[in-house]
Amino acid sequence: METILKKVDANNIDMTIIDEASDILKKEGLVAFPTETVYGLGANALSLEGAQKIYTAKGRPSDNPLIIHIGKFEDVKVLASQIPDSAVQLAKHFWPGPLTMILKKNDIVPTTTTGGLGTVAIRMPSNKVALELINHSGIYIAAPSANTSGRPSPTKAQHVYEDLNGKIDMIIDGGDGEIGLESTIIDLSEDVPTILRPGAITKAMLEAVIGPVELDKALENKDDTIRPKAPGMKYRHYAPKGNLCIVEGNKEEVIAYINEQTQLNKANGYKVAVMATSENAHLYKADYVYDLGSRAYEAQVAKHLYDALRRFDGLDMDFIYSESFDNHNVGQAIMNRLIKAAGHNIIRL
Ligand code: TXA
Ligand code: MG
Repeated sequence: METILKKVDANNIDMTIIDEASDILKKEGLVAFPTETVYGLGANALSLEGAQKIYTAKGRPSDNPLIIHIGKFEDVKVLASQIPDSAVQLAKHFWPGPLTMILKKNDIVPTTTTGGLGTVAIRMPSNKVALELINHSGIYIAAPSANTSGRPSPTKAQHVYEDLNGKIDMIIDGGDGEIGLESTIIDLSEDVPTILRPGAITKAMLEAVIGPVELDKALENKDDTIRPKAPGMKYRHYAPKGNLCIVEGNKEEVIAYINEQTQLNKANGYKVAVMATSENAHLYKADYVYDLGSRAYEAQVAKHLYDALRRFDGLDMDFIYSESFDNHNVGQAIMNRLIKAAGHNIIRL
């Protein structure tokens, strides 16, 4: 299959491209599109064929449900059978934006889209190109992240191209995802609102609107022995080919340890990379140092994380050392992804 690649300027959207993409979606095809978090791989959420094509293109296990992207709040009433007041309040505050809500599903949503579950994940993205595509096509768009299953999510059209060229109908290049980590997922289908995946909308932000919110127990679990409620969170994810190790401790210790390990590995002929904050990047002696951005602006670190992990694969790095981050606010989402990528390989100094 030839994959059409088109650039769209979010501030001056070329509607002929949106038209072309809409036609593909209406014919049960696959279109990758930008969102403010990561690129999504879209298909018609209400068609069996659409969801099945997504699973095939990504190589994704079919018990891993998809998020349905909508353009207006009324669409929730079509897709969900129960809408608690908390969902109305959260939508008012955070939609359009990087928040996905899990609600009890309506019959109209096929179980292929929900991985066999009785609940459905719904999100209204804020990216202008995404909203235009949803509203213009009139389609509820099921979209997982547009990467091959197991690889880091794509934050650039180039990442989508690397993974899915030849396997999908179209890629809309709308520039880099501003946030760079997937949406926060909150489960509102049971009595206690529960975060299933941390993201840019933090626990504190959610609690300010709806009161106490819990974290899925599996998120605190250090060795993956508790089964997460979001099926996708159980898979090994984001892992680079090289051996990734997170190093925790005070600044001087971390730098000294990483430089020592770098020297040892280099002496044995290995290529070594470091994921560093801007404050420290110049202090490392590795073959390749990826400057994630300043520790004072964790949103910058979040934005660059997946590009860094992909870059190391391209450069065939054997060992990768990463600084660690505080486990709250956006740092919680960063550490959640980093720890998965490292397969829980953390050195505490
Ligand atoms: O930011 C995002 O959410 C991006 C963009 C494209 O919108 N999408 C995304 O989709 O990250 P995906 O498929 O890569 O991750 C969806 C996660 C998976 O972990 C899946 O298991 C979980 O959401 N999920 C979907 N439906 C669910 C449900 N009904 N109950 C529990 N978890 C669900
Ligand atoms: Mg994903």
